[in-house]
Amino acid sequence: MAGIPHDHYEPKSGAEKWLHKRLPIVALAYDTLMIPTPKNLNWMWIWGIVLTFCLVVQIVTGIVLVMHYTPHADMAFASVEHIMRNVNGGYMLRYIHANGASLFFVAVYLHIFRGLYYGSYKAPREVTWIIGMLIYLAMMATAFMGYVLPWGQMSFWGATVITGLFGAIPGIGAPIQEWLLGGPAVDNATLNRFFSLHYLLPFVIAALVAVHIWAFHTTGNNNPTGVEVRRTSKAEADKDTLPFWPYFVMKDLFALSVIFLVFFAIVGFMPNYLGHPDNYIEANALVTPAHIVPEWYFLPFYAILRAFTADVWVVQLVQFVTFGIIDAKFFGVLAMFGAIAVMALAPWLDTSSVRSGKYRPMFKWWFALLAVDFIVLMWVGAMPTDGIYPYISLVASTYWFAYFLVLLPLLGVIEKPLAQPATIEEDFKAHYGNPAE
Ligand code: HEM
Repeated sequence: MAGIPHDHYEPKSGAEKWLHKRLPIVALAYDTLMIPTPKNLNWMWIWGIVLTFCLVVQIVTGIVLVMHYTPHADMAFASVEHIMRNVNGGYMLRYIHANGASLFFVAVYLHIFRGLYYGSYKAPREVTWIIGMLIYLAMMATAFMGYVLPWGQMSFWGATVITGLFGAIPGIGAPIQEWLLGGPAVDNATLNRFFSLHYLLPFVIAALVAVHIWAFHTTGNNNPTGVEVRRTSKAEADKDTLPFWPYFVMKDLFALSVIFLVFFAIVGFMPNYLGHPDNYIEANALVTPAHIVPEWYFLPFYAILRAFTADVWVVQLVQFVTFGIIDAKFFGVLAMFGAIAVMALAPWLDTSSVRSGKYRPMFKWWFALLAVDFIVLMWVGAMPTDGIYPYISLVASTYWFAYFLVLLPLLGVIEKPLAQPATIEEDFKAHYGNPAE
């Protein structure tokens, strides 16, 4: 695909020319910063930058926390208390890091749902989407392992439950679980390897983010209309775009400052709001907490994991045809990972020729229902497994799969899309008028 034609960096002075011949790093920075960006991007396009900032904040605060943390089962809990009480600004560092994880997930969910609504996953941005999904998986692994490090009751029992899921894989599950844990149960070896990987993974995420950005710089950004930037001439491309610097940098900085205001209000005034009080009790292998709940950002997929119990007929059918190899527990695990897999496959499941949900009258409603469904799953994931809750989990989980596997392929065929603007310029003028007139 031809890139969007735009001004490229030209070295002027002798020193610039010297460096450019040997390492065109200024050109790379210039082209990244000045990249033509669709001028109609709305506020849902801020989340990528917010995510980038979150990653930096997590890495910086994490590195300083490690200077005072001890990854040993006998000392981890006390070392976190030491950070909270004795280290200068330690409580703040820890609260920024813990709540930073939540902000990271708020941003990633809004970023993903933005992509789902505006069809950002569709050709030619499938690779950006898939890399995004890999980032998301790496984020979940990082957050899960990070939560184990304070060695509180939820850390310990959360790790026990989640690693137990791998034990559900028929035949090879038990050895995999033991290999993950470094022994027959969650213990010091588990804490050590989780610590090591929790430190490593953010850098893997950083590398994936670089590839993610490279991918969407290759195709150009999507935009609210889903109509592509005209690429035939620079004059036309200039009518559809603005350079990233200073226009979008300023917009993103404004958004970031508002978001950080809210973030620091939470860090300062209600830092434990999203945490679980049981994690202020040191891990104890002999006392199981009354109610083991994962962090809020895992709840939708945790709800899907728990939804498919042995009394659901689909589970019974699958168990029957697979001669019991796929039992209810393994079915739940498959459903949980499957829920992410179907989302990753969205580029190939969506058959509509129209990219943006704005021009898809039927899709819009089903998409809104998906967003509500996600919230319902998040809520029901924290509820007990009796009474009405299992039914709600089951209906909500089924809708999640139905949206991707049935509705996305079907809507593209039966829906009659609305008229789209011919160009981004036209859409921009319709909203903001023509500043030149
Ligand atoms: C650490 C996590 C991530 C970072 C730092 C990140 C960063 C970015 C940035 C800076 C952009 C361009 C601006 C914007 O759209 O906001 C972007 C675009 C995009 N991201 Fe991400 N992203 C992350 C995770 C994800 C995930 C989990 C997905 C979903 C699978 C995803 C899918 C996309 C897509 C499809 C686009 C391009 C489409 C468009 O311009 O509409 N990203 N990302």
